[in-house]
Amino acid sequence: MSRRAPLRVVGQPVPRVDAVEKVTGRARYVTDLVLPGMAHAKILRSPYAHARVRRVDTARAGARPGVIAALSGADLTWCDPYFGPAFRDRPVLAIDVARYEGEPVAAVAAVDELTAAEALDLIDVDYEPLPAVSTLEEALAPGAPLVHTGEPLAGHFADLATLRPQPGTNVCHRFQWARGEAAAALAGADLVLEDTFRFPPVQHYAMEPHAALAAWDETGALTVWAGTQNPYSVRVELAKMFGVPLGRIRIVVPHLGGGFGSKTYAKLEPLTAALARATGRPVRLAASAAEAFQTVRRCSARVSVRVGLRRDGTLVGVTCDADYDVGAYADIGPRVVQKGTYTATGPYRVPHVALDARAVYTNTTPGGAFRGFGVPQLAWALESLLDVAADRLGRDPVDLRRQNLLAHGEEFAPGDTPIDGKLEESLGHAAQAIGWTQTGAADRGRGVAAMLKASVAPSVSEAIVRLHADGSVAVLASAVEMGQGTRTVLAQIAAEVLAVPVARVTAVPPDTAITPYDQTTSSSRSTTMTGRAVQMAAEDVREQLFRVAAEHLGVPARELALADGAVVAAAGRLAYPEVLAIRFGMSGGELIGRGVVAPGRTAAPLGGSTPFWEMAAGAAEVSVDEETGAVRVERYVSVADVGRAVNPLLLEGQDEGGVVQGLGHTLLEEMVYEEGHLLNGTLLAYRVPRADDVPRALECRFVENADGSGPFGAKGAGEGSLIPVSPAVANALARLTGVRLRDLPLTPERVWRALRARGSR
Ligand code: MOS
Repeated sequence: MSRRAPLRVVGQPVPRVDAVEKVTGRARYVTDLVLPGMAHAKILRSPYAHARVRRVDTARAGARPGVIAALSGADLTWCDPYFGPAFRDRPVLAIDVARYEGEPVAAVAAVDELTAAEALDLIDVDYEPLPAVSTLEEALAPGAPLVHTGEPLAGHFADLATLRPQPGTNVCHRFQWARGEAAAALAGADLVLEDTFRFPPVQHYAMEPHAALAAWDETGALTVWAGTQNPYSVRVELAKMFGVPLGRIRIVVPHLGGGFGSKTYAKLEPLTAALARATGRPVRLAASAAEAFQTVRRCSARVSVRVGLRRDGTLVGVTCDADYDVGAYADIGPRVVQKGTYTATGPYRVPHVALDARAVYTNTTPGGAFRGFGVPQLAWALESLLDVAADRLGRDPVDLRRQNLLAHGEEFAPGDTPIDGKLEESLGHAAQAIGWTQTGAADRGRGVAAMLKASVAPSVSEAIVRLHADGSVAVLASAVEMGQGTRTVLAQIAAEVLAVPVARVTAVPPDTAITPYDQTTSSSRSTTMTGRAVQMAAEDVREQLFRVAAEHLGVPARELALADGAVVAAAGRLAYPEVLAIRFGMSGGELIGRGVVAPGRTAAPLGGSTPFWEMAAGAAEVSVDEETGAVRVERYVSVADVGRAVNPLLLEGQDEGGVVQGLGHTLLEEMVYEEGHLLNGTLLAYRVPRADDVPRALECRFVENADGSGPFGAKGAGEGSLIPVSPAVANALARLTGVRLRDLPLTPERVWRALRARGSR
């Protein structure tokens, strides 16, 4: 009997396992949680972009009725008050210096939120304003004021042990990588193009801002309910801060109202835990939407690219100099910079490459992970310039890209995973779906772009699958449900392997006391890495079922299969409860399967081979109002090479979200700073896409060749749809109007000015 049955659950648009609790409002987020005696916290934030904090007097606030504790940085003598994944450079509350407007300087815990908020007014802070740097130009100027003067404390990731801060400057990491002889290749190229592109600082705007609830018990153990994408990283940070063993810290993750990278690594958890320790009570700290703007943002960037091509369109060399503004604290910015820059050449075959990127501190909100992880900034530049190259060579832009695409199985870089998808299929589908004709004029107003992204490596995922006495299944894994549907996908994978309906599977939410280690819910990795661990754990259970049944039935295990919740053999079937009863001699006990995915370090340039390449293409059709400069995306097609869509409906929803989020920084969004002061850090002033900004035709499609390293040939998805949006739209605009913009977002003012400049030429 064959064990290779056609897929039953994987590949089906099964309803989300959390659908009912979400539509009924029963789903619990951190701010829904209440503990007896719980206090509420509020944060006093620096009004200055850069200031010496000479004195913080919390006495009057602390004396206010209802206030339980008021803390400043100077009070945190009983813990290590620094945290941060790349460098431990971020204090829980400012110590001596505030480095951006909005940096937490003091905090109050009180009986309710209003009391805490009112007590903030009673805190006296003596600031001495310092010269600030709020742009890359200011930060990189000779003699610029320094955001950090001391040696940064090392963080906790092995792949970041090579971080290279440049002492005496605002550069906190420089990443350089080369292969071949880029300078010589460009010198010998028939066409060399060079230009500089800018990508704005933008806010994730997860609908749920950051929140945490922390409680210490009498034994000194800490539990934190946190809206985090990385419970295990938060645990490490808190263990370091408070000198508590990992096993005595428990991070529980309820539902997240979006993440997009904003909830990677510790954010508010350190302060919440410190307040809980200081008050001896559970403390809940919930940021407002405006405070999210003061917590983390996307790293803005200035990217200079040079491309060299032969007359026949072959790319011969690319150089890229990228400066990323990582704000006042490194967060994961250095990894964003090196990981993103590593793939600055996109999905193309480029023999000669020289990449040089810097992560630069400024006195602005810290920049960190944001969907795309450094790649959107670079793809904006490269994919724009490739269209210019096509123009100059008289080539069709789709055709020019196709000529240079890396093929399936081709090496991207020595020692790294060979290309595991067929980008020509994605690009071809996208172009076809937008109505691309390659006849020039007919394609006016249409544009395409493509992308390639590596995932975090090496990274570890572990999973446990439990088969209970009644044949129901629990999946224990720490991938965080933040709306993307990972709990449904993990349940589908276990249901597939164990041949039970999804309704018989419970995906247990992340809790470091219960669900095993998972490095991070980011980098589009959960289906591939956590999913693979779940698949292995379920297969482990399956083997145990086979062993018990084989012995009982007296047939070789290889003649057994699973179907409809039973072990089946030619001679008959044993339902799982029967198998367990045979195994344990009673109705009780459970089979426990374990899965571990730990690929380890490799010779790849960044120290670990990407577990999969994320690949996607986008095609846009735009219109423009020449009177106002307003650009409208009329149609958009995204095609992602996902190997296998475990749940096509969830994936479609996730990619639609990615496109719309991409339209945000393409057309609308920018955190505007003036001398370190954020002018639009509220949802009134900062415009994210609304329903009526969504293209009237938006299609998200997939290429499925089952060629991924994840379960059933799946690979990562969810970020790829966002990345081509800006260049596809700008390329469409250029083909429509002849106007090429280099700075995002493509606001009506920018477009109008460019149209006017074109007109007067
Ligand atoms: Mo992400 S930016 O990999 O959460």
